[in-house]
Amino acid sequence: MSATPLLETIGLSRTFPGVRALDRVDFRLFPGEVHTLMGQNGAGKSTLINVLTGVHEPEAGEIRLAGQAVRFSTPQEAEAAGIQTLYQEVNLCPNLSVAENIFAGRQPRKRGLIDWKTIHRRAAEALAQLNLSLDVTQSLDTYPIAMQQMVAIARAVSVDARILILDEPTSSLDEGEVTRLFDVLRKLKASGIAILFVTHFLEQTYAISDRITVMRNGEREGEYLAADLPVQTLVAKMVGLEDAGARLAQAEAPRHDEAAAPGGQPYLAAQGVARRGVLNPLDLEVQPGQILGLAGLLGSGRTETARLIFGADKADAGALHINGKPVKLSSPRDAVRHGMAYCPEDRKKEGIVADLSIRENIVLALQARRGWWRMIGRARQRELADQYIAQLGIKARDAEQPIGLLSGGNQQKVLLARWLATEPRLLILDEPTRGIDVAAKFEIMDRVRALCAKGLGILFISSEISEVVRVSDRIAVLRDRRKVAELAGAQRSEHEVYDLIAGDRR
Ligand SMILES: Nc1ncnc2c1ncn2[C@@H]1O[C@H](COP(=O)(O)OP(=O)(O)OP(=O)(O)O)[C@@H](O)[C@H]1O
Ligand SMILES: [Mg+2]
Repeated sequence: MSATPLLETIGLSRTFPGVRALDRVDFRLFPGEVHTLMGQNGAGKSTLINVLTGVHEPEAGEIRLAGQAVRFSTPQEAEAAGIQTLYQEVNLCPNLSVAENIFAGRQPRKRGLIDWKTIHRRAAEALAQLNLSLDVTQSLDTYPIAMQQMVAIARAVSVDARILILDEPTSSLDEGEVTRLFDVLRKLKASGIAILFVTHFLEQTYAISDRITVMRNGEREGEYLAADLPVQTLVAKMVGLEDAGARLAQAEAPRHDEAAAPGGQPYLAAQGVARRGVLNPLDLEVQPGQILGLAGLLGSGRTETARLIFGADKADAGALHINGKPVKLSSPRDAVRHGMAYCPEDRKKEGIVADLSIRENIVLALQARRGWWRMIGRARQRELADQYIAQLGIKARDAEQPIGLLSGGNQQKVLLARWLATEPRLLILDEPTRGIDVAAKFEIMDRVRALCAKGLGILFISSEISEVVRVSDRIAVLRDRRKVAELAGAQRSEHEVYDLIAGDRR
């Protein structure tokens, strides 16, 4: 390791109205290393990246690139200096093609004209590095969000950069995709590129990192060699509690209680629900007070199942019963009327309204269900918002702050609050803890379980098999757009789920 860091910050500070997002932060990144930033939601990780790359201006402090003081006024300037960044919120153009997204802003030209042939070939090559073969001429939004994420990664790694910054690139990827990404990162690292990585996944942190910088409340808590930092110590430093290790161990222990007695009337029963080319006929039951987990790889049909049940897509076969009565759901609005709520995986596209306040975002679904002619009183709105801000530990100045200014994990919590506020009978959670820090993750799932105890039924989708196994009473395993098994009681183990998911491929 050379003595001069490739990138360094000294006393970097940045305040937003009401928060000191960065407080005199010293940070160093060396060539040929993977350096991971860890910290709770709102700790300042993305802000550090944004200030480093010219998205925000620092108020105080210095940034040095290879020993030279620099200041970027725009992300383009940072790019020109060899810093490639994949920001936390995917910033691609959904209606451009995959290839156009990979080469946006730097299309190769031939005699003044955009050289499409070269663009398509090089885009395919960039994706092949990640073991992906997509039709690069298709528009990006024809692919699911995880695939779009891979396209963003392909864009970032396909450039000759000296520094690669990745802010939570893996939050919607499955294990296979993470493995492929890490293989690429290791190759880049071996060629001397410096990689700055942000994640909330502890296992990933240890799998890829040489060094870890922990942030807490805008300050740099410390910098460590990954090999010298036990996981309990890391968590304790992130949350600032010396007993956090014990809490983590307790929260990670699988639940041993038996599933609630079967045989009761399911809240929701689906028989043979299917849609051609999307999902093969599938049966499901969700009991009040229970969590049914859906496990499977990306593309196995998890989200598709949720959307069919919620009426967001139309099933072309099968029947749905709610409380024993046949129902036809032809739109999400019908589903909401029947007491369902759906917290979608793509918070940007289907979820948050960036300019509205936290309060307005939280009451949105409740208001829509009551009808817009019966406005919820301002005082009641405020009360609801304050209640969920406290319950879910949403880090914000107050309920009137626009949600777009919150950190990613805190936006996710607001979205969850929106659906909890409708007091649904069946809640569909699609990757609800995406981007949420380790400490908050367990708290949120505890809250969800407490609601369950009051009779709420939950359909729970997560790419993290360990999370599905930990929280679910029963687990439906999907493979290639069909349900291949349902596990309950003692059968619910990570090992079992992995075997079923892998199927014949193992
Ligand atoms: N543009 C902005 N305007 C106002 N406040 C902001 C802005 N950007 C960030 N903040 C605030 O700064 C603090 C740090 O946010 P940041 O996004 O850096 O957190 P983070 O560590 O990346 O969290 P997460 O893990 O949730 O992504 C938060 O309190 C956030 O609300
Ligand atoms: Mg962030």
